[in-house]
Amino acid sequence: MKTSDLSFDAFDEQNSPEREAATGMDNVLTRRYFLKGAAALGATSFVTTAGIPSLASAAHHSGNHAHKTPFTPLEASTEDAITLPEGYTSQVVLSWGDDLTLENLPFDHTTRGTALTQSHAVGDNNDGMDIFNVEGRDVLVFNNEYVNLKVMFGNNASKQPETDDDIRKGMLAHGVTIAELKESSNGWSLVKGSKLNQRITPMTEMNIVGPARASDLMKTSADKTGTKVLGTFNNCGNGKTPWGTYLTCEENFNGYFSSSEGESFKQNAMQKRYGIAKKGKDKGYGWSKIDDRFDVSKEPNEANRHGWIVEIDPTGQMPPKKLTALGRFKHENAECVVNKDGHVVVYLGDDERGEYLYRFVSKNTYNEGADNSQLLEEGELFVARFHDNGIGEWVSLNNAGMPADEAMIYARMAASKVGATTMDRPEWVAANPNKAEVYVALTNNKYRAVKDNQPLNVANPRKENPYGHIIRWKPEAGDHAASHFIWDFYALAGNPTVHNGAMAGSKNITKENMFNSPDGLKFDSMGQLWIQTDGKYSNKDGFAGMGNNQMLLGDPNTGEITRFMVGPKECEVTGLTWSSDKKTMFVGIQHPGEKGKGKSHWPEGGDAVPRSSIVAIKRTDGGRMG
Ligand code: FEO
Ligand code: CA
Ligand code: CA
Repeated sequence: MKTSDLSFDAFDEQNSPEREAATGMDNVLTRRYFLKGAAALGATSFVTTAGIPSLASAAHHSGNHAHKTPFTPLEASTEDAITLPEGYTSQVVLSWGDDLTLENLPFDHTTRGTALTQSHAVGDNNDGMDIFNVEGRDVLVFNNEYVNLKVMFGNNASKQPETDDDIRKGMLAHGVTIAELKESSNGWSLVKGSKLNQRITPMTEMNIVGPARASDLMKTSADKTGTKVLGTFNNCGNGKTPWGTYLTCEENFNGYFSSSEGESFKQNAMQKRYGIAKKGKDKGYGWSKIDDRFDVSKEPNEANRHGWIVEIDPTGQMPPKKLTALGRFKHENAECVVNKDGHVVVYLGDDERGEYLYRFVSKNTYNEGADNSQLLEEGELFVARFHDNGIGEWVSLNNAGMPADEAMIYARMAASKVGATTMDRPEWVAANPNKAEVYVALTNNKYRAVKDNQPLNVANPRKENPYGHIIRWKPEAGDHAASHFIWDFYALAGNPTVHNGAMAGSKNITKENMFNSPDGLKFDSMGQLWIQTDGKYSNKDGFAGMGNNQMLLGDPNTGEITRFMVGPKECEVTGLTWSSDKKTMFVGIQHPGEKGKGKSHWPEGGDAVPRSSIVAIKRTDGGRMG
């Protein structure tokens, strides 16, 4: 199989020798202590049955769908379409390749465009997003995570980039798109040529701030000061700060680096842990052919300059900056909370099998109306340890005994040193706006209890975890900066029509709502939890009855989960935000038809090239969407 045919997860398969299980932390389930600890701290509604915890109060499959966004639960679907409950409509707002300028060039379904057209068009594979009000205008900011080579270069015999222009086109389809939208009686549309429209790409200059700024490990031949870097790529989930900036999260940045030494290239321990240039190969993008900085043998430090959270000012006035105080790993999203004492807390997941869950606490405090723009430049980074008594602990990476720059650049190593709990691929983290409570999606992990460095532990209790789960925690005394928290399982996904026991899932998983691989998580302003999936869509065997990837609504109080939307074939549903009046929900559809075999022609239909797109969903009665 070609490297470019692999998913990011498959590409990253590697046994990292440094990633040993934290001593004493990765025990198998000991429920007795779980119940005792959780009960002592006031956790409610969880019981133990058949060796897995489940929601006691989730015995409510009674048609009592008391969501504030009312709808009849949707059946699973395998259609090449957006499927919604009755009373809801959807409209495609923006798609990969839509021209942002007044040139108004239509997307070319034969060539899929050129580097030049892509440079001023919507990027590919939209992911995390948020909406901002800039001078009274609605500005949508969204990530363009990667390009699907088999789709973008489906017109090449090799299904790969073949020319320098191909490589550059692929490069320029990465990054972030900023687009002004307007709503009329015909729905939402792009304001073409708006001065606010902007592309941020792997070539955009940005500043490096925080503990790794000017570190020797950040210096390259193009930047001898270690303070400036070109670009951001593989931007996955996102965050939004209370001061109106957008956080984009660099995830599988490793897949863009290769070595001119080819197969004989030997990774050092750090490159190995981060999966950089294994056997000298990238994931098929070919960037080192047009830019030496992606050749690790020529520029070994360039890869240290990626894998960060980047703060972007949607007005375009402040240049983007890489926030090295938030650590370098395969960032999923960045969930910001203003703690009751004013410190800004950012919850962060590292999406790789057996990696960790993190928390950043700012040194200084947020003051409304003041200049808060430097709050994420200084603070302390912690990693989660889950104890077998329903209690968890945040351990500071300062305890790793590494210099501050190294502890951030090699945060994974620092986290291993302080005994973090290995997780089943932490994806999005979402904080409840109504109470001090936080959720994380653990999407799946085929290596759990398979690889020696990832034994079962209390928080990741299922071997090979094919379905994923959602954990939630309450910080001690409602203080997001506290050292301890109590935690429980919100849901263990599963298939109750195929399995009994642990793989059937928790009690709030039924044949009506079953899904796999929870990924996107976001609370709306009414305190409802939206769950998006990026899982297996075979609809067969252990995944029978689940259909395409989808979006569900979770009730944080009762545990009830209800399917709301199903996406087109071979897509992932990711990215979610709302218009300022909350009457429109914007949902991201990523990589429809990702296998490049013509199974999807969404959204245009016919023989069209499938295109990642953002859709606007509304209620036909004009009510609120969240
Ligand atoms: Fe880009 Fe972990 O998803
Ligand atoms: Ca994701
Ligand atoms: Ca995923």
